[in-house]
Amino acid sequence: MPNIVVVNRAGEETSVAVDAGLSVMEAIRDNGFDELLALCGGCCSCATCHVYIDPAFTDKLPAMSEDENDLLDSSDHRNETSRLSCQVTVTDALAGLRVTIAPED
Ligand code: FES
Repeated sequence: MPNIVVVNRAGEETSVAVDAGLSVMEAIRDNGFDELLALCGGCCSCATCHVYIDPAFTDKLPAMSEDENDLLDSSDHRNETSRLSCQVTVTDALAGLRVTIAPED
């Protein structure tokens, strides 16, 4: 069971154990972070699950779809490390991943 580190909007870091196969969004939501609204439930249609991903893991992430890219463009807080956390599946290769919950749009 890989661990990931979640950084909330206050900058506090929490390490959480995640079942491989869950999305990063589910991992964050299921561990009680209410800052991550994830309003669409993971359907890639809301962008309220926006996170910043540790650049050290960029190569290990699934490719970004056009829909995800378009949705991220709607955020005022997008940067080069932005992803929608519902579109990233936790695998053993992502053990130690650090994700920061992006500011609310
Ligand atoms: S939960 Fe809606 S886009 Fe990720």
